[in-house]
Amino acid sequence: MSKSKTVFICQNCGYVSPKWIGRCPSCNSWNSLIEEIDPSQEKKASSKIFNPGIPTPIKQIKNTEINRVSLHFSELDRVLGGGLVSGSLVLLGGEPGIGKSTLILQAVLNLINQNVLYISGEESEHQIKMRADRIGIKNENCHIFTETSIERIIATIKETLPGIVIIDSVQTIYSQDLSSSPGTISQIRECARQLQEIAKTKNIPIILIGHINKDGEIAGPMSLEHIVDVVLQFEGDSNNYYRLLRPKKNRFGSTYEIGVFEMLSDGLSEITDPANILLSDRNSKLSGVTYGTIIEGSRTLMIEVQALVSNAVYGAPQRSATGFDHRRLQMLLAVIEKRLGLKLIQKDVFINIAGGLKIIDPAADLAVIAAVLSSYFDKPFPENSVFIGETGLSGQIKQVSFPEKRLNECIRLGFNKIFIPNIQNYNLNTKSYDLITVTDINSFATKLYS
Ligand code: TYD
Ligand code: MG
Repeated sequence: MSKSKTVFICQNCGYVSPKWIGRCPSCNSWNSLIEEIDPSQEKKASSKIFNPGIPTPIKQIKNTEINRVSLHFSELDRVLGGGLVSGSLVLLGGEPGIGKSTLILQAVLNLINQNVLYISGEESEHQIKMRADRIGIKNENCHIFTETSIERIIATIKETLPGIVIIDSVQTIYSQDLSSSPGTISQIRECARQLQEIAKTKNIPIILIGHINKDGEIAGPMSLEHIVDVVLQFEGDSNNYYRLLRPKKNRFGSTYEIGVFEMLSDGLSEITDPANILLSDRNSKLSGVTYGTIIEGSRTLMIEVQALVSNAVYGAPQRSATGFDHRRLQMLLAVIEKRLGLKLIQKDVFINIAGGLKIIDPAADLAVIAAVLSSYFDKPFPENSVFIGETGLSGQIKQVSFPEKRLNECIRLGFNKIFIPNIQNYNLNTKSYDLITVTDINSFATKLYS
């Protein structure tokens, strides 16, 4: 028997190379190529001649109503765009131990009389039962099936026709038709394809749980993300109880919403008012601590920025940012240096966003600058101060998106000394606040401690 031909496939993007290379030329990830049986050998091209199909004019296509199944968590429903769509394939990604299995198990255990098939390739029935007892079982129609063969899984789905199917996790299931091991990109892709086919033909929603690798990507992401209808990411900090559910792709809703949860001893609990969950001790009056706002989906969250500016011991000063973009920090420090003339070149600068959140909203720039200045001069701000504004390269402070929404939220949480780019006629809920306008970083620095 001739030896089957092998190729090297990038586990991140699916790029195929005849020989091993250290860095994928397609997605630039390092050490991601793994030897697998050549997939083109496994599926021989058909030589049959097919009759052409008949495409339909768009106006003749009838509108069908999207049928959605509501899950127990309203936060999960909201992120999905109003519930789980029948026949859809949803991928839930997250780091190991973040709570993916808990979230989905809890969601289906609380549905009354919904026929659920929970397929686990990771945990035994006994382990899942222990977890379910901890969470509480309301749905007696939830069936656990420990299986990893996709062929048996498909046969079981066809036989039992459940209302919802869960696959925990997509990395553990495999097809007997492929010789590569479970978790490789060809296996994940083939299993997802078979599941998508059954989801569409039987109109059953399927939730796939997937682990993300060290770079924060779902293994085989580029190949899976276009197969599935919805990609959700479950994020959080292992030192923190809060978890964010963020849609990366949604064919049936917006990718603008986030869901917020808290991990408790009896499972996850929804946080419907998450505005100030990320703030630590507001009364501490420490230098280098400031507050700002970010918009996440339709919600405004308050953030706490912590900065430490200290004398650099080694030749090259250190710049370290946790939860904030490193390059943006470099840019803000350069603006402070150039426009305010502070000698930051001789200082180490550390920035941390409390609560383990990674922020991308540029409206946090002013809070970061204020935290750096506060630590540099070792002068704390009153705890009711908040800083809202985006900074440009020339040092001007620019207006942010949804200023009114941010202001109302600040005032509601007792922040009433507000630094903001310019005053318009804001329609605010109260009059008891102090708005301080800033146009550029120089006027900001002079007004800071006045
Ligand atoms: P899990 O859902 O197994 O994570 P994943 O499927 O993403 O790998 O969650 C595991 C963690 O959650 C574990 O460290 C314990 C914690 N946990 C709780 O704190 N409370 C609970 O009620 C449950 C079920 C888990
Ligand atoms: Mg799990």
